[in-house]
Amino acid sequence: MANLKVNIKDVEFKNPVIVTSGVIGYGREYEEFFDLSKLGGLATKGTTLHKRNGNPGKRIVEVPSGLLFSVGLQNPGIDYYIASELPNLLSKGTNILSNIAGNDEAEYCKIVEKLNETDAPIIELNISCPNTSGAPLGTSCEGTERITKIIREMTDKTLIVKLSPNVADIGEIAKAAESSGADAVSLINSIHAMKIDINTRRPFFHNNVGAYSGEAIFPIALRMVWEVANAVNIPILGIGGVTTGEEAIQMIMAGATCVEVGAAIFRNPYAPLQIIDEINAWLDAKGIQDINEIRGVVQPWER
Ligand code: SIN
Repeated sequence: MANLKVNIKDVEFKNPVIVTSGVIGYGREYEEFFDLSKLGGLATKGTTLHKRNGNPGKRIVEVPSGLLFSVGLQNPGIDYYIASELPNLLSKGTNILSNIAGNDEAEYCKIVEKLNETDAPIIELNISCPNTSGAPLGTSCEGTERITKIIREMTDKTLIVKLSPNVADIGEIAKAAESSGADAVSLINSIHAMKIDINTRRPFFHNNVGAYSGEAIFPIALRMVWEVANAVNIPILGIGGVTTGEEAIQMIMAGATCVEVGAAIFRNPYAPLQIIDEINAWLDAKGIQDINEIRGVVQPWER
């Protein structure tokens, strides 16, 4: 069996497959399906300083090859997370990425101050939520730079900055995160999208615009991972519509160290385990001993 271990900074992942933020909350219900220690990691639901009820109205709808959603960061707040969820998560034998989101810099700082008092090893700094009001910090280089620098100065924890696809040049945003001290970047968060109810003549979501995730966004996410891999030297966590081992391998060949799996879980809760098995089987079939050998190996055509 090939080596599947990968590293982000000094954190070792037993395999590169992580469940992405927002899909399984803090993992409790998901444990009914399988032992979480089989995962490379688990990214928790985006957690804010205070409890949030999320967006009003309808929040999720299936569309061809994916889903539209507008949850709006519903979560119980960082104090509840630290007191009631983190200890359980840290006992599961997998890497926990604490995904955090703030309305402004001061909120991010207060959350990180609280996390600094815990053993949470990794922060996934969500500066790209598509479903809250106002443009997220991660939609500009200046915003990305400012918040990453502030948080980097506050914490020694492994810092992953989660990037938005709703930008002109994601490579430039990734460079801003790298030069400001991010240990890694994860991408992509979901893509702004819309649905209209033709009978009411209203947008389906109260926010008017929602976010698109699932299989359909895989080629877009892959392109962005490849662009970012060509722009920065820090590790990348590839996210967006990954459903099969073959797609996970494409992400890794594009330059990703880890792959986060999200919407696929709604159709098949075992998808992350199947993806791990499929990666393994492919490496074995090709006689490749170590997954790290295929990272970034894609050879672009000369143009
Ligand atoms: C949402 O809660 O609607 C999306 C959260 C995210 O950015 O992950």
